[in-house]
Amino acid sequence: MAAIRTAVIPAAGLGTRFLPASKAVPKEMVTLVDRPAIQWVVEEAVAAGCTRVVMVVGRGKEAIADHFDRAPELEASLTASGKQGLLDVVRRLAELAEVVLVRQGEPRGLGHAVGVARPVVGDEPFAVLLPDDVFHPSTLLTEMVASTEASGRSTVAVMRIAGPEISTKGVAAVDGRRVLDVVEKPAFEDAPSDLALLGRYVFTPAIFDALDRIGHGALGELQLTDAIRLVAQEEGVDAQAFEGGYFDTGNHLDWLCSNVELALGHPTIGGPLAVRLADLVRRLGLAR
Ligand code: G1P
Repeated sequence: MAAIRTAVIPAAGLGTRFLPASKAVPKEMVTLVDRPAIQWVVEEAVAAGCTRVVMVVGRGKEAIADHFDRAPELEASLTASGKQGLLDVVRRLAELAEVVLVRQGEPRGLGHAVGVARPVVGDEPFAVLLPDDVFHPSTLLTEMVASTEASGRSTVAVMRIAGPEISTKGVAAVDGRRVLDVVEKPAFEDAPSDLALLGRYVFTPAIFDALDRIGHGALGELQLTDAIRLVAQEEGVDAQAFEGGYFDTGNHLDWLCSNVELALGHPTIGGPLAVRLADLVRRLGLAR
């Protein structure tokens, strides 16, 4: 099968869960450690082999396009002041991948957002990364791409989530690695398992035809999960389990924890941060 070169990043949401931080700044541009959250996600897609990134955006998301574009005035200023290191950082952003923006127009659900990317993606397998979901380590997508390229089947990421929180996710019934069924945001009592779908997917083009056939699902929206169910029944879908650090950065506590975990792995911030955290725990008397 064709190599996976295209990543779709749905980024049209209003970010209401992250207010007030996301009122005037798109939530995807809120900083994680030292860069906007969306940059981590684009770098993850590039590390998995993607060379083209399709951002599905809405109004007010211009800052995302600017972040991955050339910035002539800034570059001229950095050049004039001899700040070569920063100049390289800024220029590299425009060279990371071919970034294509498509507009969703109106928010009709995740399934609709992915469908909007179809004319750009074409008849090829592709990855989908939900920018709220952050993983540490971030090699999950690379493993999923390898899985789909080897099997020819779509691959979805899953993780065990205990308790009622499972009803905030898509939930998969799985036999071995094979997905038998998926349900979007079931009631806790009705969940077919404790395996939640996470925001990383690798799809064959069959998902687009499936998206054309679904109706309004959970929350009255066109749900990606409902299209995955059709592909699982007709073509087969595999599940890739993830067991590392998973953060839903649309949630304030998770966003804060993701900052701490990612910063601890940062080459220059990590060491000093560990010392400061240990000091904080001692000063506040938090140690057990
Ligand atoms: C979306 C998907 C859901 C998935 C989740 C992962 O839900 O619809 O199936 O489990 O992402 O984070 P959302 O978080 O957009 O409500």
